[in-house]
Amino acid sequence: MVQMGLEYLPPETIIDGTIITTLPVADAINRIFTDYKIKSKNVCTSLSGHSVIVKKITLPYQRGEDINETVRWESEQYIPYAFSEVNLDFQLLAENPEAGTIDVLLAAVKKEKISERVDVVTMADKKAAIVDVDAFAMLNAYEINYQPTTPTTVALLNIGASLLNVTIVSGKEFVFTRHISVGGNHYTDFLQKEFNLSWEDADNLKFGNPVPGVSAEESTHIIQSVSEIIAMEISKTFDFFKTSTNMSNIDRMLISGGSAHVPNLINLLSHKLSIPAEQFDSFRNISYDPKKFDPEHMRMVSPQMAIAVGLALRTMGD
Ligand SMILES: Nc1ncnc2c1ncn2[C@@H]1O[C@H](COP(=O)(O)OP(=O)(O)OP(=O)(O)O)[C@@H](O)[C@H]1O
Ligand SMILES: [Mg+2]
Repeated sequence: MVQMGLEYLPPETIIDGTIITTLPVADAINRIFTDYKIKSKNVCTSLSGHSVIVKKITLPYQRGEDINETVRWESEQYIPYAFSEVNLDFQLLAENPEAGTIDVLLAAVKKEKISERVDVVTMADKKAAIVDVDAFAMLNAYEINYQPTTPTTVALLNIGASLLNVTIVSGKEFVFTRHISVGGNHYTDFLQKEFNLSWEDADNLKFGNPVPGVSAEESTHIIQSVSEIIAMEISKTFDFFKTSTNMSNIDRMLISGGSAHVPNLINLLSHKLSIPAEQFDSFRNISYDPKKFDPEHMRMVSPQMAIAVGLALRTMGD
């Protein structure tokens, strides 16, 4: 690793993958480049939320140029927007001549969301070299760090502030992705309402710091109830995954995102969903100079850096 920086944004700056206020985002990008003396101007960024559609589809067997036409034609039923509104891309995953089918990975992103990201990067005086999708960045981070060799089915759960992304892989192969509109904000929200606190104090409680007037027991209780809501949402998504893919089993869950730190969340998920769960390690297979990067700090930010690590693995034009 060459350089790394993490900046927090004010609450509600980005909600459900939509940038609500641009300036703090551009400022944060700039600060990271300045603070860490990063010379390059190229930025990779990624999107998630309702304006992103990623889906594995099966089509009748065919080869060559025809695929383009068929994918365009077939994809219409999966994309709730007009063709003129989206950027559409696809990748041929597998050809099964015996079964008479091909598997295609379809990705469609609303053009206005891409512009939104490009604009904020441009505002920070940088160049948006790649606009990726969170699920693919997550997949890249998983592949490099865990190098799966057996076809075990793993659910990669990225739990951020307002979004929870579920991406399911079998071995190295993408199977399924879906987002749920829950995340760390829900803990802060619930704590704030329950104890009539400021957002800052509620956040403090969530981070495990004492706040006058609220006992640890009371706050643990609220945190636990939000974790249970999150577990239920994940369970519904797993059910949907099972019915839509005919796969019946998830062997393991790896939890990333800043909210992976919420006390007892990983335990609770493992227990409620009856699937082994552990924290995702973004630096499991990435070497860094411990004199330059404090290993304690790296351990701390590791789950939160998953998407950034996945994006850093991209090269221009790949
Ligand atoms: N130590 C911690 N304990 C509890 N929560 C934490 C901790 N560190 C970070 N968080 C929470 O993690 C969330 C941020 O995580 P992350 O950086 O993965 O989200 P994001 O990518 O910015 O958001 P989103 O994906 O929803 O757009 C915030 O809600 C933050 O409060
Ligand atoms: Mg995120």
